[in-house]
Amino acid sequence: MNEQISWVSHAARSLRGSVHVPGDKSVSHRALMFGALAEGTSRIRGFLEGEDTRATAAVLQQLGVRIETPADGERVVHGVGLHGLHASTDPLDCGNAGTGMRLLAGLLAGQAFDSILIGDASLSKRPMRRVTNPLAAMGARIDTQDGLPPLHVRGGQHLQGIRYELPVASAQVKSALLLAGLYAEGETEVIEPHPTRDYTERMLAAFGWPIAFEPGRAKLSGGHTLRATDVDVPADFSSAAFFLVAASIVPGSELRLPAVGLNPRRTGLLEALRLMGADIRVEDPRESGGEPVGDLMVRYAPLHGVELPEALVPDMIDEFPALFVAAAAATGRTVIRGAAELRVKESDRLAAMATGLRVLGIVVDETPDGATIHGGTLAGGTVESLTDHRIAMSFAVAGLVARAPVRINDCYHVATSFPGFMQLANRCGFALGLAD
Ligand code: S3P
Repeated sequence: MNEQISWVSHAARSLRGSVHVPGDKSVSHRALMFGALAEGTSRIRGFLEGEDTRATAAVLQQLGVRIETPADGERVVHGVGLHGLHASTDPLDCGNAGTGMRLLAGLLAGQAFDSILIGDASLSKRPMRRVTNPLAAMGARIDTQDGLPPLHVRGGQHLQGIRYELPVASAQVKSALLLAGLYAEGETEVIEPHPTRDYTERMLAAFGWPIAFEPGRAKLSGGHTLRATDVDVPADFSSAAFFLVAASIVPGSELRLPAVGLNPRRTGLLEALRLMGADIRVEDPRESGGEPVGDLMVRYAPLHGVELPEALVPDMIDEFPALFVAAAAATGRTVIRGAAELRVKESDRLAAMATGLRVLGIVVDETPDGATIHGGTLAGGTVESLTDHRIAMSFAVAGLVARAPVRINDCYHVATSFPGFMQLANRCGFALGLAD
């Protein structure tokens, strides 16, 4: 793996055109897992060809699931049924994907065999007790390295449903418990401090598993079966986010982003940018595969700083790196609070963005759970992505409005969620290239 790839992003004139961003990462992971556990054959369209989701596909193949790739962005999953997985003699490598590892921990806790889940350097530093503790309360046995991966999941345990109140809003933890709940005796109920993305709940229902859910709460019981179903994956709002910010800050820009997933638990950035003065319209709102989607039209508009409402944080948890760039290019200060979770993502995103923006001449006051960003003029410079895909893409956007080129180190991991970002970006007017 060549992590040494660096990018240089140059100032650009207006951005124009139509940008088709790739499929949703969260939906793609889940479609593979439920397809694998279902009876029958499921076809996934719009599948994200990212490293993260491919890692999950490879893990399921190691566990005995046949998965075909009839075309780019398509998978045919031959389900083996709830009890049809086989042990793998090799460790299961989730790569960079927290979603993959945490959801698989729940799924594997209910199997008759042992498994070992491993990840790359970044994933190996991410906290796992948030899933292993409640899973242990259900009767699972999962060994960690002081709360970090690798996870050694012991099979053959008797799982018992629980009622669990999540201490932090996390769709990954909720989903891990619901997956274990498929194998548990009795009811598993998860209650969240703030509603999070509900793809697991919606997809379980689509695959025919009885589940009761409403924002902030989900309940199911074990002992049913999943029926294969086809899944249409919408374009990933988190990938669209970079273009929403880019077009908002580069004068004269106008971009169209077709068929983007608009699950309300994902679109906090839309609201945040609008509060800052952005001009973003949703056209042709519709449903696709049980999910709200729409075409996003974004035009340049001068942005101003805001005190970000804390209630928006969980609905834009992956979009903060992009928001930092919008705030840096806005007039006035933007205050972020209640976002301590950003410290345990693919990198410490509060520190990564604050440090990088300071290199580019922006004043950022970092706090334990947020930051105050003082908008200003961006200079050029060299910033570190810390191998975090979203940090890399955010600084590529920052380069569009910087006075001199912005060099971004370690951009390899962009392929985890957004393969082809550079080409797509350059097609609509970015001036992004590889550094020497
Ligand atoms: C995800 C949940 C979020 C998000 C991640 C994807 C999911 O993580 O940051 O990119 O697919 O469930 P948390 O559950 O840690 O908030």
